[in-house]
Amino acid sequence: MEFIDLKAQQKRIRTRIEDRFKQVLDHGRYIMGPEVRELENQLAGFVGVRHAITCSSGTDALLMALMALDIGPGDEVVTVPYTWISTAEVIALLGATPVFVDVLPGTFNMDPDLIEGAISPNTRAIMPVSIYGQCADMTRINNIAQKHNLPVIEDAAQSFGATHHGLRSGGLSTIGCTSFFPSKPLGCFGDGGAIFTDDDTLAEKMRQIRVHGQKVKHQHPLVGINGRLDTIQAAVLLEKLAIFPEECRLRHEIGRRYDELLADISELTIPEIASGNQSVYAQYTVLTRDRDSLSASLKAEKIPSVTYYTKPLHLQGAFADLGHAAGFFPIAEKIARDCLSLPMSPYLSFEDQKRVAAGILSHQQERYEQTASESIA
Ligand SMILES: Cc1ncc(COP(=O)(O)O)c(C=O)c1O
Repeated sequence: MEFIDLKAQQKRIRTRIEDRFKQVLDHGRYIMGPEVRELENQLAGFVGVRHAITCSSGTDALLMALMALDIGPGDEVVTVPYTWISTAEVIALLGATPVFVDVLPGTFNMDPDLIEGAISPNTRAIMPVSIYGQCADMTRINNIAQKHNLPVIEDAAQSFGATHHGLRSGGLSTIGCTSFFPSKPLGCFGDGGAIFTDDDTLAEKMRQIRVHGQKVKHQHPLVGINGRLDTIQAAVLLEKLAIFPEECRLRHEIGRRYDELLADISELTIPEIASGNQSVYAQYTVLTRDRDSLSASLKAEKIPSVTYYTKPLHLQGAFADLGHAAGFFPIAEKIARDCLSLPMSPYLSFEDQKRVAAGILSHQQERYEQTASESIA
């Protein structure tokens, strides 16, 4: 069993991808070839926004979004400590300060109740993360942002395809950023990402930043980056996007099946999906106090599992200058201590899901027996 089965997907569409590769090799426009624009049109339609701007990675998508908002030294951006480092890294990279607020214990996403306490006169944006494939509470976050006249950047790196009250992740706020890293719900064969917005001015600025600040060749009124998506990756994504709505449906079904299989295992807390949300389960992540022993026991049964973010960002050396200590963000710290992600992909069979559940059950049984014999001794 694979943790994320990319091979099954490749097998399904390999010929179509090879045909796309041939087309790229034939026209030879490896940078900003026609596939890039074709993909951007399709992505904008899928997300339901006016502009989709493809780019070199999810990290660069976030970076360009912040650059377009002119965020820099002295500015603060409210975000979460329980995420991949890119989210706060890009804020720090621009000389601004990430201001962390804790996450909710059920969804692992930004706790909207804590946002206003973190807003100061220096706050320039709010950057929630839609973690593990489920949107943050974008309705409440947008309302708070509107009250304070702040833009919202959704880090939708893990949630492309998810919906929040029927609207797609990425299209829920001022700017949405996603990643096409191979293991993401929509992944290419390397690094890639995209930015979404309805704002024409920001879109134009981000397109300019993507090519070293140029609108006209060799004129650089802005400082930008080399942030383009390769044509060959756009070609891959076009074929993957064609089957993506079906894959989202399969992910949803597989998530529900896990819920049913694992609901009665007292050792585990299964993921909570907030009302109005449909997750794409970039990860199916459970909480257990026995995480390391469960992971080892599953490994012995040849069942892969992964622990993401064992150390939240406020405790990372990269952010030591913020002066945070253990205990500052207790929910993020608890999730980091207890989380375990189980095998997940649209191609995970019911048989394999039953094997995962049986592996967890037998671990629980072993622990009971161990505890019982220890208490007798
Ligand atoms: C929440 C989050 N933000 C940002 C990123 C960065 O994406 P990329 O790896 O494409 O730069 C990731 C990727 O792992 C992510 O999970």
